Amino acid sequence: MTKAPNNALNSASFIAMKQEGRKISMITAYDFSMASCVAQSDVDIILVGDSLGMVVLGYDNTLQVTMDDIIYHSAAVRRGAPKAFIIADMPYLSYHLSDTNTKQNAAELIIKGNANAIKLEGGSASRLNAIRAIVDIEIPVCAHLGLTPQSVHRFGGYKVQGRSPEEHEEIFIQAKAIEQAGAFMLVLEGIPELLGKEISESLSIPTIGIGAGRYTDGQVLVYHDLLGYSNMQPKFVKQYAALNTTIAQAISSYTAEVRNGSFPTEKQTYYPISNKE
Ligand code: KIV
Repeated sequence: MTKAPNNALNSASFIAMKQEGRKISMITAYDFSMASCVAQSDVDIILVGDSLGMVVLGYDNTLQVTMDDIIYHSAAVRRGAPKAFIIADMPYLSYHLSDTNTKQNAAELIIKGNANAIKLEGGSASRLNAIRAIVDIEIPVCAHLGLTPQSVHRFGGYKVQGRSPEEHEEIFIQAKAIEQAGAFMLVLEGIPELLGKEISESLSIPTIGIGAGRYTDGQVLVYHDLLGYSNMQPKFVKQYAALNTTIAQAISSYTAEVRNGSFPTEKQTYYPISNKE
């Protein structure tokens, strides 16, 4: 596998992983402590997704997330995972206005957010332009097709995309164009498994699925969904822990012990030097 000099992964490593038939694992993270936990695993990529608008900030969708939000969270994730390959999401309207604005915003996610690469949504002609503009300033681009959350109003909700023959064809053609435009990776979200398989087999860049079936080159899940740290349970999520329950139980135990006086004990108590440590 291709490794950067400091032994870290780079964008070419993931294309090599695809060639070697090695599946790629990606998870989102949004702050220092989450990233520190993730860094103790051997996950391949951390995504600072604009999903943070929903799971961290409590918005109804991802559209209100700003450049400052992503920079702030990406920089915190980098502090928690100094060696990780980090992809930072470009927020809504940060890559839609002009090439200059797009390049400036992408560069800020790398310089201030300390990310290795950026992700943006869509495969229309203007999104392909944005990909080319960002690749042109040496920043690796991960694209994102299918149920792209920033298009929620056009879709009329979070609906699986690519189910009709026309949509299937359109997404397939956009995936090919995204590879041509220079993206190093493509996230496929909320599409039928067959479309995920056809795209993955016909591209040389790796595909990362979320609700895109079993045949993509890797998978991504949102931290909160994977760990049972949210109340959402979409069909494509498998929960590997039940953090919400564990946390609620722990806080209830703490509260009960505060109330009945069994916390703190001597063990959690300081004394003067002359007495006990
Ligand atoms: O924002 C995000 O977390 C994402 C993933 C769901 C792919 O885009």
